[in-house]
Amino acid sequence: MKTMIVTGGAGFIGSNFIIYMLNKYNEYKIINLDKLTYAGNLENLRSVQDNENYLFVQGDICDSELVDSLFQKHDISYVINFAAESHVDRSITDPEIFVKTNVLGTSNLLNIAKKYWEKNGEFKEGVKYLQVSTDEVYGSLGETGYFMETTPLDPHSPYSASKTGGDLIVKAYADTYKMPVNITRCSNNYGPYQFTEKLIPLIINNALNKKHLPVYGDGKNIRDWLYVEDHCSAIDVVLHKGNPGEVYNVGGHNERENIYIVKTIIGYLGENVDSSINDTLIKYVEDRKGHDRRYGIDPEKIKRELGWYPATSFEIGIKKTIKWYLDNKNWMENVTSGDYQNYYSSMYEKI
Ligand code: NAD
Ligand code: DAU
Repeated sequence: MKTMIVTGGAGFIGSNFIIYMLNKYNEYKIINLDKLTYAGNLENLRSVQDNENYLFVQGDICDSELVDSLFQKHDISYVINFAAESHVDRSITDPEIFVKTNVLGTSNLLNIAKKYWEKNGEFKEGVKYLQVSTDEVYGSLGETGYFMETTPLDPHSPYSASKTGGDLIVKAYADTYKMPVNITRCSNNYGPYQFTEKLIPLIINNALNKKHLPVYGDGKNIRDWLYVEDHCSAIDVVLHKGNPGEVYNVGGHNERENIYIVKTIIGYLGENVDSSINDTLIKYVEDRKGHDRRYGIDPEKIKRELGWYPATSFEIGIKKTIKWYLDNKNWMENVTSGDYQNYYSSMYEKI
């Protein structure tokens, strides 16, 4: 039995990952360390909360005493760091917390992991720190080309700058101490349990409530979409087979303009739920400051070296996702109550 700390496991991708791992393996004990910010939701983990291989600990990755005590009490083999402030728009209005969690939190985790793993002089076999990062560290693409692992880092938003800071600290631990680490850089995820501030769940939620569908700028910014379960399988593969110190880009060549995403959701809901959901709900709004134009991942390295490939096409994934939100309206109502309303009305007061 090996024990892993999964940080940020009550968020969107982290909760999907914990469910994926507990369903797939019996030989891992998973400690979910999560601060439960506005984005953390234990409801996501209801299906595994009684699993004897799962333990939830509420706490901050910046809290060195707490992280130290977890390493003291448990023989930790893996740390998978999902914990982050993850929303670009929030980073534009409130950048400080992004630096705290995404840079200092990463540094704290690494420092304590190193201390315990080095106790016997060397890192043990089967020990790893995996940093879950993002394609946004590479900046923005023009009309052609893709992000490769060798693409220079060129972040623009406070969010992507803080993720880049985290990545560089991870790299420093690999270069300096030969710490066994990997960094994965994934494109935009979508699927169950994504908080409704992000494009896809926001559009689904607004459309169902007949609210305007805010499209930033001209709607032609491009994101490269990956179904969340495919991201989980990529992390699983990198955890087990990734070569020490390596970075792996994760994506499935699913580039779409934002307006295409919005119209796809309208099309599905209009046809299957309520014919009054149509394009008249679309509202073009002021552009995001410093809005990156295009992201596109070249996933050849992880495919070639580790044999990973995405299993879900965008066409199937988006239908599964919309259906999940329709089947889980209570989940959506819960996350959109309280503080979310304040956030939403301050973001969109111009609408
Ligand atoms: P999320 O915002 O849904 O969840 C983040 C989780 O981290 C929440 O449960 C929150 O409570 C927790 N958290 C925040 N600060 C913490 C702290 N200081 N200590 C402990 N826990 C804390 O984020 P997500 O979309 O699931 O993203 C997870 C990771 O994947 C992030 O590192 C993000 O940068 C990265 N990523 C996300 C995407 C995407 O499309 N969502 C794509 C690529 C990479
Ligand atoms: O690329 C990976 C990144 O994807 C992750 O690292 C981030 O954590 C994650 O939040 C996501 O960042 P984006 O900024 O790309 O995602 P978001 O859902 O916020 O926006 C997607 C696109 O849609 C972006 O071009 C902005 C646009 N948008 C977004 C919202 C919320 C709109 O047009 N209207 C909206 O209301």
